Amino acid sequence: MSGSRGDGDGRSEDKQVRYDQARYVENGQYEPLLSEKDLTRVEIGGEDDGSPLPDDLTRDSLELPELSEPELARHYTRLSQMIYGIDSGPYPLGSCTMKYNPKFTEDVAALPTAAVHPDRSERSIQGTLELLYRLQDYLGRIGGMDAVTLQPPAGAAGEFVGIRVAAAYHEHNGEGHRDEVIVPESAHGTNFATAALGGYDVVSLPSDDDGRVDLEALEAALSENTAALMLTNPNTLGLFERDITEIAEMVHDVGGLLYYDGANLNALLGRARPGDMGFDVMHYNVHKTFATPHGGGGPGAGPVGVVDDLAPFLPAPRVRENGGSKSETSYELFDPDHTIGKVHGYQGNWLVLIKAFAYIARLGDAGLADASAKAVLNANYLASQIGYDVPYEPFHHEFVASAGEQDAADVAKRMLDYGVHPPTTKWPEIVPEALMTEPTEVESKKTLDRLAAAFNAVADEDDPTLEAAPDRTAARRIDQTSAARSPRLSWQTLDLEDD
Ligand SMILES: Cc1ncc(COP(=O)(O)O)c(C=O)c1O
Repeated sequence: MSGSRGDGDGRSEDKQVRYDQARYVENGQYEPLLSEKDLTRVEIGGEDDGSPLPDDLTRDSLELPELSEPELARHYTRLSQMIYGIDSGPYPLGSCTMKYNPKFTEDVAALPTAAVHPDRSERSIQGTLELLYRLQDYLGRIGGMDAVTLQPPAGAAGEFVGIRVAAAYHEHNGEGHRDEVIVPESAHGTNFATAALGGYDVVSLPSDDDGRVDLEALEAALSENTAALMLTNPNTLGLFERDITEIAEMVHDVGGLLYYDGANLNALLGRARPGDMGFDVMHYNVHKTFATPHGGGGPGAGPVGVVDDLAPFLPAPRVRENGGSKSETSYELFDPDHTIGKVHGYQGNWLVLIKAFAYIARLGDAGLADASAKAVLNANYLASQIGYDVPYEPFHHEFVASAGEQDAADVAKRMLDYGVHPPTTKWPEIVPEALMTEPTEVESKKTLDRLAAAFNAVADEDDPTLEAAPDRTAARRIDQTSAARSPRLSWQTLDLEDD
């Protein structure tokens, strides 16, 4: 594909340095990282520099980049222009939600008073502890949970902690023989991975014709070996599990626990609570719900909430009030009685937690309910404007359209050419060529119309056009398998042939 670049615009591939859209190419290679640019060798020590480290772990010189401020500013500006982010335009990734991160939360996290070293004495970090305590409380109230840990650094990490807590609870009650976790076949991959990593056999649960939990299949899957059923509600098709109280009863009747994957809590915020539906343990994806950065597995946050019975097993330490007066210590760290231990340094990713706190505090009860209303409205409006079929309804904050005869991955690549980010593709598999779409509450009608126009333009295009896409982006189509299996992480191994 590299052959097409530069054609017809007076540039040629053999130029030593050129700008290609937002991309900078030098000696036939893409923009080097700063640490690889204009390197100067600096001597850092003599043969006997007195280092206590063994010789094979020390070096005498180091290559450092020599750069001026404009070079630095331009480097980062160029990189920022090559990428598509939630600050560039709509990003309707169903389930993997990219919610706009409001800038006021950055301001709050950047306050000098937020820069508190966690190793300071409890007495001197009372403000930090109070914020963490109040966030535990807010999340507990929002989810209908009795106790919360803030430590896990991502949603998937929260899942793992939740399942470990469930395992510790069963073990403590002499029910350690329970070795199965039931997961709907439409669930996110992390649910299966969590159950397996937690040491459980994964029992896959089919959906019924409506796209919801098949109660007969659930009855057949439940047994005295069931440790938990993992569910998200609305499910990954955006459908509310209307039999949720019956499902909870069925799971509890065999002594199992009901786990809530909080990925879709944005649809319910301020309206319904997993705890009230019968869930015993849940994780909160704060980036999908409370507008914090995702962090690609960390540094993000995936707090876990539980009902009273499971609270003694939560990770240590947690924060509680100790009843002291304001002039005394009022908040303290404590270890739950049967804690599964520590799962992260200190209290988790403090700066992400501050942003979640700021978001919840700014919106309040009414603002959170308003966010979920608009998230659902936006998804329904967008679906009504696109030509692709949406087989399962009524959906809430997200919907899954089918690309029909087109390849959903090609549709996604082509949407980039229209200047918008595509939806999540090819999952859940019960919808052929799935386009799982979640616009979130932040998009205006104008933006949704632009998004719908992109969907509809792509729907009318032929396969060769789709297969050649994207052709207007800084990077063209990559070999996804090689990118995943043999990533080359240095510019020195890349050249134009590899585009
Ligand atoms: C349904 C569901 N569960 C769990 C996760 C994992 O969350 P995280 O990306 O925060 O690890 C995701 C991520 O997209 C998800 O969509």
